[in-house]
Amino acid sequence: MENSKSKKYEQLLPQVKSLVEGESDMIAKMANVAALLHSEFGFWWTGFYRVVNDELLLGPFQGPLACVHIGYGRGVCGTAWKERRTQVVPDVEQFPGHIACSSESRSEIVVPMFDADGNVTAVLDIDSRDLATFDQVDQCYLERLVALM
Ligand code: SME
Repeated sequence: MENSKSKKYEQLLPQVKSLVEGESDMIAKMANVAALLHSEFGFWWTGFYRVVNDELLLGPFQGPLACVHIGYGRGVCGTAWKERRTQVVPDVEQFPGHIACSSESRSEIVVPMFDADGNVTAVLDIDSRDLATFDQVDQCYLERLVALM
């Protein structure tokens, strides 16, 4: 299982690289990367929030409707931004302050993205309808993936 997940990510990374190569518009890149991840893995919700005017603003995503604004330090996304590190949440009900955009979400991973100066510019947020979908394998590959963007 873990092995096949790694394999899938290994195949995905070069695809992501060629999708984003030569493209400078981050929103366009986010749109295609969200679509690729979502269709390959069949996640419940896959998308990006960008840091705009000191809050997280909904960006390109695939899945059901989502909250548009998330404050610094709020929910899993705002926490990833504040702590500047990936949040792996095996059970969203156990995460204090989790923002339930969809009552179907049971587990979640949020990966921050950084600019050249080390500022968080966006987060990648992926939700699953199953508990404990994400682990260090997802963390490792998704961190590599966003670094390509
Ligand atoms: N659950 C997230 C909010 C975003 S949605 O899941 C799409 C959070 O707690 O930050």
